[in-house]
Amino acid sequence: MTAKIIDGKRIGQEIREEVGLEVARLKDRGVVPGLAAVLVGDHPASRVYVRNKIKACQSLGVHSKLVALPQETTTAQLLQCISDLNRRDSIHGILVQLPLPGQIDEQPVLLAIDPAKDVDGLHPMNAGALALGREGLRPCTPSGVMEVLRREGIPLQGARAVVIGRSNLVGKPLGLLLLQQHATVTFCHSRTRDLEAVARSADILVAAVGRPAMVTADFVKPGAVVVDVGINRVEGPGLERLLAEDPSLRPRYERNRSKGIHSILVGDAQWSSVSRVASAATPVPGGVGPLTIALLMKNTVQAARVLSRK
Ligand code: GUN
Repeated sequence: MTAKIIDGKRIGQEIREEVGLEVARLKDRGVVPGLAAVLVGDHPASRVYVRNKIKACQSLGVHSKLVALPQETTTAQLLQCISDLNRRDSIHGILVQLPLPGQIDEQPVLLAIDPAKDVDGLHPMNAGALALGREGLRPCTPSGVMEVLRREGIPLQGARAVVIGRSNLVGKPLGLLLLQQHATVTFCHSRTRDLEAVARSADILVAAVGRPAMVTADFVKPGAVVVDVGINRVEGPGLERLLAEDPSLRPRYERNRSKGIHSILVGDAQWSSVSRVASAATPVPGGVGPLTIALLMKNTVQAARVLSRK
C-alpha cells in the first residue's frame, strides 16, 4: 500500500478563503478583526512563527499588532502588557508565543488573557470548556488536525484513535476533540508500556511528541491514517543518524545544503516506511503545519464575531 499524501497546504488555503469571506462580512458591519501577537525574547523558531502569523493577518485584511518584548522581561511586565491588550477594543485575539524565557511563569500569563480573546485556547476556562464539551476557543493545531480529518472524510465515530504525546498545546486537547467526535481515544506517552503494540491498534494514529522519525511502520496498522504533528529541525550528529536510517531524506538534505542550510525539517513519523503501510498520512513539511495559522485566523474571526455582538 502507498499512503495517500494529505495536502495540508490545500486544506489551509481552503480555510483561509472561508475566513477571508467572514472577514469581509464583519467589515461590512464595521468590525475589523484584530490580533495581537506577543513575542518575548529571541527564540529563533518563535520569531519565524510569529512573523508568519502577522503575514497571514495582513493577507486576510485582519488588523495585527506585534508586541516584541526583550528577553529579560519579567512576569509582572508581561502581565501588564496583557492587561493593556485585554482592554483594547481593536484587539479581539491575543496570543503569547511559547515557550517563554525561563524567568517567566507561564501559568499566570495564560490565566491573565481574557478568555474571550484567547485565540490559542490555552486559558483554563477554554481548556475546561473543551473538557466539558462546551463552546469556547480551541487550540489551533488540534483544531487543524480535526479539519484535516473532517475534510478528508475520515470516519471518527467508533474509530480507535491513538495520540502519542500529552502536551497541553496538542496531545491533550486533540484527544478531547477526537472523543467529542465519538472516537475511542488512547493517550500514549514516554511511560506507555509496549507503545508499538498500542499504536498498532489505531485506525487513526497521531504523533505529537517532538522526536524525529520516531514512529516507523512497526507502529502502524495496515490501512491506518497517520497524522504527523511533529516539526523537528535536525542537524549535526542526529542528522547523520537520520540520513543513515532513512536514505530517502538525502535528496531533500542535499537541496538544503546547496542553499547553505545544514539541517532538515522532519516530522515524528518516518515517512518512507509509514507511507508503505498507512492508507493516508500527513507529510512534513506541508501537512499539519500550514493548518495552525489558518485556524488561528479562524479563531481570531470567531472571537471578533462574539466580542462585537456584546
Ligand atoms: N509554540 C508552538 N506552537 C504554539 C502555538 O500554537 N501557540 C503558541 N502561543 N505558542 C506556540
